[in-house]
Amino acid sequence: MGTLLEIEQVGKRYGGIMAIDGVSFTIGERELVCVIGPNGAGKSSLLNVMSGTVRPDQGDVRFRGRSLRSQPAHAFANHGIVRKFQGANVFPWMTVTDSLRMAGLGVALHSGRAPPAVEDVLATIKLGHQAHRLGSMCSHGQRQWLEVGMTLMCRPRILLLDEPTAGMTAVATVEMAELALRLAAEMSVVVIEHDMSFVRRLGCRTLVMHQGRLIADGPFDAVSHDERVRDAYLGRA
Ligand SMILES: Nc1ncnc2c1ncn2[C@@H]1O[C@H](COP(=O)(O)OP(=O)(O)O)[C@@H](O)[C@H]1O
Ligand SMILES: [Mg+2]
Repeated sequence: MGTLLEIEQVGKRYGGIMAIDGVSFTIGERELVCVIGPNGAGKSSLLNVMSGTVRPDQGDVRFRGRSLRSQPAHAFANHGIVRKFQGANVFPWMTVTDSLRMAGLGVALHSGRAPPAVEDVLATIKLGHQAHRLGSMCSHGQRQWLEVGMTLMCRPRILLLDEPTAGMTAVATVEMAELALRLAAEMSVVVIEHDMSFVRRLGCRTLVMHQGRLIADGPFDAVSHDERVRDAYLGRA
């Protein structure tokens, strides 16, 4: 498995808070990785740096060996580093189909990677029957699926998902886990998640953040038995 993304000694400070504090790891081709940790641990900040949304104060982000440190977020997307934000934000006045089409435009224009067929993405996110529904009329769960669909329209090489199952039903959470597993056959997938049933189902490499630091990095089984992880996050029950 070749290395796709390298995060090297990244730091990001907000006033007196180190949101990310000297974090290093790599993401391989078609690797599936979960990121867990308590609220405020720095998980979203880490995704912000990995997707170019926020520039780190220290350290570097390299894609296939090339530094992206001084590049804007759209350059990250053009390389195939595509992210879903925490919370569902879709275009309220556009239909599901048009939102998908729109999402496929930018990267296709600037990177030459043609978007997948809208029908295929609709089938993947199981919104075929809602294709003409306005974003504002979609349920919270449908909006979460639509946002994932919009990321897929950018033909990601590295898909970054920030709490994709927040507010979803238990059934939809299982479906999202199954989708993440399927997608990881084609691309690298990094998922921030607080639902431990989801993380257990993925059973993949798991990064644990706590107070801006990466305190564990390994298979979920090993990480879930780690003393520091139990103290910081999972508890001992
Ligand atoms: N834009 C920002 N301005 C100020 N503080 C921020 C900002 N983004 C994140 N933080 C702070 O950085 C820390 C990590 O936040 P975040 O990365 O959102 O954590 P998580 O996603 O793990 O809940 C928190 O203390 C948060 O308040
Ligand atoms: Mg967060």
